[in-house]
Amino acid sequence: MTTAAPVGLLPSAIVLQSIVACPLKDREPLAAKLGKFEKKLFPSSEAFDYGVELKKKNIGIILAFKEGTQELVGYLVYQRQKSLAWLHKLATIEQERRKGIAKSLVGFLCQQMKKGGCRTIVLWVDEARSPARALYASCGFQQIERLTDYYGPGRTALKLELNVAEC
Ligand SMILES: CC(C)(COP(=O)(O)OP(=O)(O)OC[C@H]1O[C@@H](n2cnc3c(N)ncnc32)[C@H](O)[C@@H]1OP(=O)(O)O)[C@@H](O)C(=O)NCCC(=O)NCCS
Repeated sequence: MTTAAPVGLLPSAIVLQSIVACPLKDREPLAAKLGKFEKKLFPSSEAFDYGVELKKKNIGIILAFKEGTQELVGYLVYQRQKSLAWLHKLATIEQERRKGIAKSLVGFLCQQMKKGGCRTIVLWVDEARSPARALYASCGFQQIERLTDYYGPGRTALKLELNVAEC
């Protein structure tokens, strides 16, 4: 199922598309597109296998495109578990950063979760990822846990939580 973002939530010239239970025919091209995108932005150890992820029923993806094009400029991956949603991944291409794209992706997820009866969004973030931490703070996430060596030696993880009622 795909849905579009409501007007008023987006930076200009960006269109969001939400995909839940990705149809079989769309899985392969979408997995290829996301895989290519991730290679540029994340270390290979953090790359998802979207061929596997897109088969899962509770995985959702929100894509950000330049309006009128198929140019992917950002995306967010989450997993719904009853009243909780895990935000697994979020990224914006380098040339389009600081234009509000990631914030609009999180805002859209929050609105969708609110409508669907979800109460909380949680995530783990590497303490060293300052832009991501600043983004999540600007969206209202609060730190609830800190684990040293979570991502490997010397790499600390922070668990953050957002109350959906507040977005
Ligand atoms: C983190 C990331 C997703 C932010 O994307 P973005 O589209 O540039 O973020 P936005 O423009 O929506 O930023 C919204 C707010 O977050 C904060 N923020 C975002 N990037 C920031 C940065 N580099 N430095 C300081 N604050 C930042 C600011 O408060 C910003 O608002 P402002 O621009 O009005 O000051 C992007 O930098 C990225 O893809 N990084 C690599 C992947 C990553 O770390 N993902 C997160 C972990 S999975």
